[in-house]
Amino acid sequence: MDRDVLERRIGPRSFARLLGPWRPPGGRGLASALTERVRLLVLDGRLPLDTRVPAERELAAALDVSRTTVAGAYDALRAAGFLHSRRGAGSWTRIPAGPAVGADSPSPFSPVTDEHLVDLATAALPSPSDALRRAAAAALTDLDGHLGGHGYTLAGLPVLRAAVARRFTDRGLPTTPDQILVTSGAQHAIALLLALFTGPGDRVVVEHPTYPNALDAIRGRGCRPVPVPLGPDAERPWDLDQLTATVRDTAPALAYLIPDFQNPTGALMDTATRAGVVELARRTRTPLIVDETLAELPLDVPGPVPVAAHGAEDGSLVMTVGSASKVFWGGLRIGWIRASPSVVRRLAALRPSIDLGGAVLDQLVAARLVDEVDAVADERRETLRTRRDDLRAQLTAAFPEWRVPRPSGGLSLWVDLGAPVSSLLAGAARRQDVLLAAGPRFGLDGAFERHLRLPYTVRPDRVPTAVERLVVAWRTLGSVPHSAEAERIAVA
Ligand SMILES: Cc1ncc(COP(=O)(O)O)c(C=O)c1O
Repeated sequence: MDRDVLERRIGPRSFARLLGPWRPPGGRGLASALTERVRLLVLDGRLPLDTRVPAERELAAALDVSRTTVAGAYDALRAAGFLHSRRGAGSWTRIPAGPAVGADSPSPFSPVTDEHLVDLATAALPSPSDALRRAAAAALTDLDGHLGGHGYTLAGLPVLRAAVARRFTDRGLPTTPDQILVTSGAQHAIALLLALFTGPGDRVVVEHPTYPNALDAIRGRGCRPVPVPLGPDAERPWDLDQLTATVRDTAPALAYLIPDFQNPTGALMDTATRAGVVELARRTRTPLIVDETLAELPLDVPGPVPVAAHGAEDGSLVMTVGSASKVFWGGLRIGWIRASPSVVRRLAALRPSIDLGGAVLDQLVAARLVDEVDAVADERRETLRTRRDDLRAQLTAAFPEWRVPRPSGGLSLWVDLGAPVSSLLAGAARRQDVLLAAGPRFGLDGAFERHLRLPYTVRPDRVPTAVERLVVAWRTLGSVPHSAEAERIAVA
């Protein structure tokens, strides 16, 4: 088979766009600045592994630098293990072998085990350990009733489907258990829905910025994400007219929205827009994924009523994705899809080609927890309120030039840095042992260099250290020494 057909490559102009503003102020140290930026793009997943990069001469022309600069950068990237080349054939991106990741099958999610490192790239709390232990102990007893069966449940365990359905009903969206499919987390739910509703070449409308792993799933399916910008108006960031025009103009196979404390902006969709979005989906027959992963974390507002409750209750067109990861624990790997019974059956039918259902014990634990959600969520919200306000206060004091908004829920701050330096800052912070998810990770084509997502899930005793190190990193912007750490920066 023709290798070029299968090969992933990036052209010189696209590469230049992806690099964004990479030149150091003063224009010195171009090769090492270029090295550093490519390294970051590989580590945070914006430049996929095994992508063929442009030839030195082509890239030099696209960047308007000397070929020596590009050759120097490529040499340094090769030496550090971020590129491998075959003479006369080209160079491909890769991740160096190391203790945490293998060179051939790098884990995009290398857990941060280094106590010295401050992880500001992951927006997730540790488990509510007491509640989790209690639920796990009860689930062990519940397990007895299942041990005589084969244990495969393509749509999920009935007891968990019933518990999730009850929770939707309590939140204002009457739901029956046959409308629920249990998944291994919300990310898996998104991938299953993409598999059901899209094919290669289809367009999928997304908010811009949006959740990076959803973008990756859309692209991984061979679809084209079509961005609709979230506006700066804190009261009404979703522009329904623009969304409508985009759906009309591009006829997407699917739209994917995060209306509740949107990741990364924290924005909350108002009731009128919720109704408008449902109406748009119905009028244009556009299936809509509503990602409710953060819906149980309102901090200063009442819990939002699900989008589907505004005229799409049957779930045939508006599919709601939920997760146990943020309110309970990411380590549970439990999520769900609420849709019509018929969509649930079709999802269950396509599932065996991907997986054969979730673990029985984990689902039993989740079922116990979902029934306790109010108590657990109350505690989480209390913790998060304090941490949000504390991190904001420390950031505002240390960086008067940053604009640090106060989201009404969710897990992170979407900070405006006042200058397009997010990737530079992520590189500089890494050298101070701080992991950051740079703004462009949440966008397309290098957008959001002025922004940085900072989760307030970080342990309070680590915040002063985190801020001190960020101050050092911020001051060193412009000098870009090389470092060779190789763990992939994961975003949740
Ligand atoms: C908006 C959004 N969707 C999906 C996910 C993935 O969640 P899960 O851990 O349930 O797969 C996340 C995790 O951060 C998220 O923020």
